[in-house]
Amino acid sequence: MNPTPPILIANWKMNLTVDEGHRFVSGLTAAMDVPATWVGIAPMAVAMDACIKAAAGSGIKIGAQNCHWEISGAYTGELSASILKEMGAGFALVGHSERRSLFLENSQEVAKRALGAVKAGLTAAFCIGETLQERESGTTLSILKEQLTPLLSLLGSADRDKIVLAYEPVWAIGTGVVATLDQIEETHSAIAAWLLTEHGWHSPSILYGGSVKPDNYAAILSLPSVHGALVGGASLKLESFLELLNISEHQAKDNGTPQLKLSVG
Ligand code: PGA
Repeated sequence: MNPTPPILIANWKMNLTVDEGHRFVSGLTAAMDVPATWVGIAPMAVAMDACIKAAAGSGIKIGAQNCHWEISGAYTGELSASILKEMGAGFALVGHSERRSLFLENSQEVAKRALGAVKAGLTAAFCIGETLQERESGTTLSILKEQLTPLLSLLGSADRDKIVLAYEPVWAIGTGVVATLDQIEETHSAIAAWLLTEHGWHSPSILYGGSVKPDNYAAILSLPSVHGALVGGASLKLESFLELLNISEHQAKDNGTPQLKLSVG
């Protein structure tokens, strides 16, 4: 069992309008008391302000889907982590596989983005994951290490608690193909063991992402090395997100974290 409260992060990607986002977060806060789970929602940047207002006082954190490492400057189209912090954001995703594959962000840049988030006072949800070809050729762990190494050289050990890792096998994202429980446990444990033995990083929080749904989440979350989930598709409908949150709240209760009222529906 994990000693810390589970983490549940919604990645809405380029979905939900400003109005839809506001209604979703208002509906979420109306359906629950302050949750024991660390709940984060990452809307499109233009919907963040409306979501932050709707989340006020609820304990739900609104975050960005990416951020830049500089505070300001000639970086057209980028988001400054310090401005995100100023507007009330709580976290930023960095290194999502869509950023890496479609927008060619490399691990060095992703590490700088994570550092920018941390320095601005945000939590960084740092995404890693292998392609199907990499898994099939047996290179999963070396790919994940490569993705993590620049972060480990930039990040001071005092800032590690500002990082949440998200293991998202690329072949499981948005495909409906979820990694097996054995694959998830084996990969998470291998990452944690490597971080501990090679880098002295004790107990990193590692989320699983990739086709997480209400019907598979309880089993995934019960794995000892899984601390929560990063969810795309199943986070777009309030009802299914509430189901995921309910599973998470039950886990928090099993861990001895006080569970607060949560009504689904
Ligand atoms: P999915 O997306 O849950 O739709 O697979 C996960 C993600 O992209 O973070």
